[in-house]
Amino acid sequence: MGIMKTKRVIEQAISDLCHTRNNVNFPKTLVMADLGCSSGPNTLLVGSMVINAVANTSFEMGLKSPDIQINLNDLPTSDFNSVFVALQELQHYSANGQFMDVQAQPSCYFTGVPGSFFGRLFPMKSLNFVHSSYSLQWLSQLPELEEINKGNIYLSSTTPESVSRAYFEQFQTDFTGFLRCRSEEMMGGGRMVLTLAGRTTDDARDEESYNLWRPLAMALQDMVFEGLVEEEKFDSFNLPQYTASPTEIMDLVKMEGSFVLDHLEIFDVNWEAWKREKNDNDASEMKQLTDDHGVGHGVSKAIRAGIEPLVANHFGEAILDDVFKRYGQIITATSSKETQKLVSITISLTRKM
Ligand SMILES: C[S@@+](CC[C@H](N)C(=O)[O-])C[C@H]1O[C@@H](n2cnc3c(N)ncnc32)[C@H](O)[C@@H]1O
Repeated sequence: MGIMKTKRVIEQAISDLCHTRNNVNFPKTLVMADLGCSSGPNTLLVGSMVINAVANTSFEMGLKSPDIQINLNDLPTSDFNSVFVALQELQHYSANGQFMDVQAQPSCYFTGVPGSFFGRLFPMKSLNFVHSSYSLQWLSQLPELEEINKGNIYLSSTTPESVSRAYFEQFQTDFTGFLRCRSEEMMGGGRMVLTLAGRTTDDARDEESYNLWRPLAMALQDMVFEGLVEEEKFDSFNLPQYTASPTEIMDLVKMEGSFVLDHLEIFDVNWEAWKREKNDNDASEMKQLTDDHGVGHGVSKAIRAGIEPLVANHFGEAILDDVFKRYGQIITATSSKETQKLVSITISLTRKM
């Protein structure tokens, strides 16, 4: 979705990685990792961007492209089989010269790496380039909350201060741990590009981050009123994610100390990007649910793909169709063009020597 907006940042990081003084450090093999790669249509997008960037940079420098090893990481429950099937297509295009826009095509080798990126995944100093998009806002666990976040499922203007603090502390622990693990795995001078769902405001309880989740809280609340969901279940449901601000991210990078921050940019991704594709097979259902922008149903479908296991684990599978249908309808009925956007933050980092 927003990954294409980070293409320039990725290309710059690859170019900087390859352009070292007198080309002495030009890698013979470039080892990269895409952390939280998922198993959907975007899984191979970043790998293909990197392959092209490496090929173009090598061509400009008059050097032979290095071999590229691409490590695809996600949680062990991810569908790695479908990723490996899709890989054959990428390798086919690559082998037939249809994929690259330059002659010198790098040889690429792919590996699946199941595990949590909050722990070590790779040997010491083995990586030149690390990428992760829309994964690092997910926390390793829901923090212990001293108070009930009544009526909310994430941070909102009515969330108690202690809850907001607990969320930030969990993000601080997770993000710092992530940087520490990568600092051990990356070579000095290696580059890392991270994109996270974030916020622009200082207060984590600002409604900006809650626009996406308020309609889901409203859907669940309606189901409580109708006796379909228990009130205590609703009260104890909170999403294990944190949308950090640019300042929080910059401060944590500085505090951890292993990386130099080269670049930070903030951009919006409009929810329209989630609009259902035309060739979806349940077109009649879509006609019934979409407004003239078609936003509610598309957002609900995309969000369901990401959080369905969380909702099912907490409330049971029986409510899934109903709650996500209501979620889409509430978005369509209540959200405005101004609020229909996801704030994204991209940072580009260099591992200190
Ligand atoms: C919203 S998807 C992003 C997928 C893809 N990177 C993209 O930009 O479209 C988030 C992915 O992060 C993965 N993820 C979440 N926490 C993780 C962790 N601790 N370690 C590895 N992967 C994780 C999820 O399983 C999911 O596939």
